[in-house]
Amino acid sequence: MNENKKFRICIVGGGSRYTPGILKMLVAEKDRFPISTIVLYDNEAERQERVCGYGKVLLREYYPECEIIHTTDPETAFTGIDFAFMQIRAGRLKMRESDEKIALKHGCIGQETCGAGGFAYGMRSVPAVCAIIKDIRKYAPEAWVLNYSNPAAIVAEATKRVFKGDYRIINICDMPVGIMGMYAQALGLPSSRLEPRYFGLNHYGWFTHIYDKETGEDYLPKLKKMFATPMEDDGHTGHEVDASWAETFRFMSKMVRECGDKFMPNTYLQYYLYPKHMVSIENPDYTRANEVMDGHEKRTFEMIEEVIAADKLKGTKYEMTEEDFNDGHATYIVDLAYAISHNTQDIFLCMTENHGIISNFSEGAMVEVPVRVGINGVEALNVGEIPTFQKGLLENQFAYEKLTVDACLEGSYEKAWNALTLNRCVNDTDTAKALLDDYIEANKAYWPELH
Ligand code: G6P
Ligand code: MN
Repeated sequence: MNENKKFRICIVGGGSRYTPGILKMLVAEKDRFPISTIVLYDNEAERQERVCGYGKVLLREYYPECEIIHTTDPETAFTGIDFAFMQIRAGRLKMRESDEKIALKHGCIGQETCGAGGFAYGMRSVPAVCAIIKDIRKYAPEAWVLNYSNPAAIVAEATKRVFKGDYRIINICDMPVGIMGMYAQALGLPSSRLEPRYFGLNHYGWFTHIYDKETGEDYLPKLKKMFATPMEDDGHTGHEVDASWAETFRFMSKMVRECGDKFMPNTYLQYYLYPKHMVSIENPDYTRANEVMDGHEKRTFEMIEEVIAADKLKGTKYEMTEEDFNDGHATYIVDLAYAISHNTQDIFLCMTENHGIISNFSEGAMVEVPVRVGINGVEALNVGEIPTFQKGLLENQFAYEKLTVDACLEGSYEKAWNALTLNRCVNDTDTAKALLDDYIEANKAYWPELH
């Protein structure tokens, strides 16, 4: 890598409520990962323009050597880029609300990526993500596509098939990073000291070891004890979190006590291991989508308006804080880009094709496992055999994910129905059909037609 190289990056989904945070993170990382141009790309011009307005003020004050532009034109967006950071939400939060509420109407978990809601979202996300990556490949055949669009497991299964062999598309999720941040906080260590071992599918996995990079100590047994009791604060995150997330972090202790085996669970396992309980605590009239629309999204866009009106951040309550400059959690996406461009061979948890990595699991499944990251993309570490309990759960989930992608790419009603029937959060053929028919009606503008 040329020492003086400055990157051109595109944020796909530029109008997202997460973009201001990503921009601040890029400011914080400017010495390590210098950028010449940030391009925001979105299909919602007006919303993105506001985000870009905020970005212009931020960069003028903190990063004047970097320009920011916004566009809805793929050629302008992708020509000459080194990296695409891709985080789109097909149908926005309105359709997330529909996904969640339709599921709850049928007595099933209403969640963004798990269960029936994740299925409905997957059927929207796969065509949208694939269409954008096709455009990226047209204008930037060699760019790295760091994709964290949800539902990531289904999206990864689709990109693997549609862009066969394209190792410059990497699917990654921030949840394991977030959980490791909690571990680090509980242990009183920086996240960078910890090196995970983990296996599963996205939003469906277990930590098997948490090593200290310096001493080699495995903290997992200690963490199991620490997390077996419910947390008193908002779950050791160190951040203020919404009520539903606080509840998720508290619930983790039950999973650690009852079904962690000798592992530590990903928080999302609550939906698969305790579906009855999770349905019982959901409010069918006010779901996570409502909480986000009334909370984080609203606050973010109010902040954007205020910054644009004041034409400054410095000296206002929105100026960058010490925490913004040291937020290990937000940097994972730049850590990944840095590891590629500088060939660091650092370990990340990414989705990659199972070719013997988990020896007793389906070949070709997109598993979430530790990988080394460098100039050739991701190279997986060996996991070996997994226990029967986890294998059973994961094979079931993989079959569901595979059928979902089949249904989407082939336009098959039968496969969609089979997929939903298999999903542990549905598990009933009549319910699956009722759900499917409601989702088809609600998703006319987004889904491929099913025959
Ligand atoms: C975690 C997951 C993401 C998910 C997000 C939902 O970060 O890894 O995949 O999208 O949570 O957060 P939200 O605040 O939208 O419910
Ligand atoms: Mn995720």
